[in-house]
Amino acid sequence: MKVFVTRLLPDTVMGRLELSKEISELRVNREDRPLTRKELEDGIGWCDIILSQLVDTIDSSLMNINPELKLIANYAVGFNNIDVAAATEKKIPVTNTPGVLTETTADLTWALLMGISRRIVEADNFMRSGKYEAWSPTLLMGSDVHSKTLGIIGFGRIGFALAKRAQGFGMNILYSDVEEKSFASEVNATYMDMYSLLKQSDFVSLHPFYDEKSHHLISERELKVMKPTSYLINVSRGPVIDEKALVNALSNDEIAGAALDVFENEPDMEPGLTDLDNVIIVPHIGSATLDTRTAMGNIAVENILAKINNSDLPSCVNPEVL
Ligand code: DGY
Repeated sequence: MKVFVTRLLPDTVMGRLELSKEISELRVNREDRPLTRKELEDGIGWCDIILSQLVDTIDSSLMNINPELKLIANYAVGFNNIDVAAATEKKIPVTNTPGVLTETTADLTWALLMGISRRIVEADNFMRSGKYEAWSPTLLMGSDVHSKTLGIIGFGRIGFALAKRAQGFGMNILYSDVEEKSFASEVNATYMDMYSLLKQSDFVSLHPFYDEKSHHLISERELKVMKPTSYLINVSRGPVIDEKALVNALSNDEIAGAALDVFENEPDMEPGLTDLDNVIIVPHIGSATLDTRTAMGNIAVENILAKINNSDLPSCVNPEVL
C-alpha cells in the first residue's frame, strides 16, 4: 500500500517507515512546514493511507478525493482535525496515539503551573535585561503551590496524571467531568460541578476532550467565577477557552494569570495576549520529548502495518467501521 506522511517524524519512526517491506511506496513531506490544502489534496489522491498531523484538516471534501482511502493514522491523541463522522460514513478507520503522551503532557502542565505561579519566565526576563540590582523583600512575589487547591476540568488520563503530581505537593484536588470517576479516590480527588470547582480552585487546569460541547467551555462568565488570585492552565485544545475573554480577564486582573500550550487559532494568538506579563505561552509542546514523539510515531506505524496486514488496529477511534 502507498503511504503518505504529511510531516517528518523522529528518525527511528522514519526509519521504520522507510525500511518497511509492507509499504510499497512512501511519500513524505520532508520540508519543515505544514502542507498547503493543495498539497494535502494531491497526497490524499495518491495514497492508500495518510499519516496526518493535528494541523492537517481532514474534512469530508478532502476524503471525497479518494474513495479508496483505507486509513487515516493521526499522529496525536486528539483528532479534532479530522471529521470522524464523515470518515465513519465513508467506512474509513481513523486512529490516534493514546496513552504514550499522558505522563509527558502532565509534566508540561506541571511545569506551566509552577512557572506561572512562581513567575519563572518574568524572573528570567528580568535577569536577562540586567535589572537585578539587589535582593529585595518584595521582588517578583508569586503564589504558593503546596497546600493550594487544584481544580482539574476533564479527569481522563492526563488529568489523573496531573493529580498524582499535585498529591506530591500536598494539594487539595478537585475535579469535574461529565460523570464521577471511580479512580479519583486513588488520588483523593473530590468530584464537583464545574462552577463550584472554578469558585474554589487556586489553579484550574483544563483537560477535556475537545468537541462542540467543550468549545469555549471557559468564557467571560466562567472567568468571572474564578478567584482573582487563581491561575488558568490549558494544554488541551485552544478553543476550549474563549481567548478574547481571557485576554480581557487577564488585562483587568480578574484572574492572576494563565499558562497556555494551545491557542484558539493556532499559530495565531489573540491580540494583546503577548503584551501581558501574567501569562506564559508555549507553542503546543505538551508531548514534545524525543521519547514520547517517537512512541507516538510507533503507534501510528503499528496502526498502518496492522491495516496493511489486515489485523486489529491498535487504536481506532471509530471501531464501528471495522
Ligand atoms: C495531541 O496528541 O493531541 C497533542 O495535542 C499533541 O501531542
